[in-house]
Amino acid sequence: KILILDFGSQVTQLIARRVRDAHVFCEVHPCDVSDEWIRDYAKDGTLKGVILSGSHASIYEEATDKAPQAVFELGLPVLGICYGMQAMAWQLGGKVEGGHKREFGHADVRARGHTKLLENIQDYVTDAGEGMLKAWMSHGDKVTELPPGFKLMASTESCPIAGMADEARGFYALQFHPEVTHTKQGTAIIERFVLGICGTRQDWVMGDYIAEAVAKIQAQVGTEEVILGLSGGVDSSVAAALIHRAIGDQLTCVFVDHGLLRLNEGDMVMDMFVGKLHAKVIRVDAADQFLGHLAGVSDPEAKRKIIGREFVEVFKSEAGKLTASGASKNGAKWLAQGTIYPDVIESGGGKGKKAVTIKSHHNVGGLPEQLGLKLLEPLRELFKDEVRELGEALGLPHDMVYRHPFPGPGLGVRILGEVKKEYTDLLRQADAIFIAELHNFKDAETGKTWYELTSQAFAVFLPVKSVGVMGDGRTYDYVVALRAVQTSDFMTADWAELPYALLKKVSSRIINEVRGINRVTYDVSSKPPATIEWE
Ligand code: XMP
Repeated sequence: KILILDFGSQVTQLIARRVRDAHVFCEVHPCDVSDEWIRDYAKDGTLKGVILSGSHASIYEEATDKAPQAVFELGLPVLGICYGMQAMAWQLGGKVEGGHKREFGHADVRARGHTKLLENIQDYVTDAGEGMLKAWMSHGDKVTELPPGFKLMASTESCPIAGMADEARGFYALQFHPEVTHTKQGTAIIERFVLGICGTRQDWVMGDYIAEAVAKIQAQVGTEEVILGLSGGVDSSVAAALIHRAIGDQLTCVFVDHGLLRLNEGDMVMDMFVGKLHAKVIRVDAADQFLGHLAGVSDPEAKRKIIGREFVEVFKSEAGKLTASGASKNGAKWLAQGTIYPDVIESGGGKGKKAVTIKSHHNVGGLPEQLGLKLLEPLRELFKDEVRELGEALGLPHDMVYRHPFPGPGLGVRILGEVKKEYTDLLRQADAIFIAELHNFKDAETGKTWYELTSQAFAVFLPVKSVGVMGDGRTYDYVVALRAVQTSDFMTADWAELPYALLKKVSSRIINEVRGINRVTYDVSSKPPATIEWE
């Protein structure tokens, strides 16, 4: 295994991700573990190497973090990245100086001399025959003098010591970030370190992750009880399945049906979690309560606030009942959430208003404190695709794990203006037809369904009436808009060029099968300037 010592960089988990991608087991621990801890960790001989992460701090600032000195005395390879390089240089007798200006962005890195780490890894070769790397840099301080025993491994225009190595001891360090995708050869460099230099075995699979995660949850929770708000979305479903695997009936899931769910969604969630996994799930039918509070409200933000507030109310009251009724023996002590790594970065980075809004609903912000519960977040270190892989390994159906995202406020933000039960019923039917046909239609070239080829697709209810003709009669009914987008990060998105045959089928099915809708339109706006949801 590989140990990653975290100095607090926002991208430390990306290092872990790259190591896992190489099918090597790794663990991230804070950089301030003690020398004894390190020696103990390495005792059984399974540890093959250590990676020191980057940090926001400067080696010169007060209370600067050091790596435990024992790391350099284990006889194992060590890779220092960015701040990790500076810490290595500083602790082994080199010199680090505060840079006059911060270097941030792309850099062309020249590999100096042959090192096992960078040998034959390059993006291009200069006329002089030197191998060059396109890398991502983000640092203020830099190493200005190599520690004894080290040689120069890489340099850039503005950073003469951008990499150093003491190959006899297996110590390597890079000022740039191999873990980010902007460094094109980054994966190759990290694989070279863990496989070629540390000699780890490529035997890590998702099944092992489950065993580790289960053991960790059991150790954390002991005999205490846990509650979890199950939404039917990917993250909370996978978290529920994992925690249930770990502690069985000590977990109670609360599934709030706010009346703004998709067709049959509630039944599907219950079939899966109660029918197949035999988990304890309390289904709360709160549709009347939500729709009651939404009556007469048409402002999008006001609607969102009401839905968020009611959700917290319902959840709190169920958590309270659980304790009072004795359904939970000792009362829950933990609140579990399906927070995944991108949520962690997002909240730390505070990418602006939207990110904050999404977050506060998504993670029911503030609930743990209000309920006096400890927080259990077993997916905190995983990326979305890893969460999906984990879900499938836990036995959740492919379709559930590969579902498009669905916003917390549900159909509430897909019915423009005031939300009424009549509208939710019409929208649910139209949306189900659209989704079913996206699954039915395959793209000839890729063999994928259009559901797979789009990132998010749904129907939107427009509370305006238009005139139509059906049979011999005149109709005067509502309009539905179809929305389908392609995106990798949901921050920007393109409208999907769905085949006309698919649009035609969906339109004719909706108009024929959903009484009350006589017109279907397709939304051809990209984000920005439009958003994905209509409200
Ligand atoms: P927009 O409409 O801002 O949406 O382009 C970007 C992504 O975020 C989802 N979304 C939400 N998710 N709670 C959520 O959990 C919310 O309040 C919320 N609002 C938007 C939206 O579905 C899309 O995937």
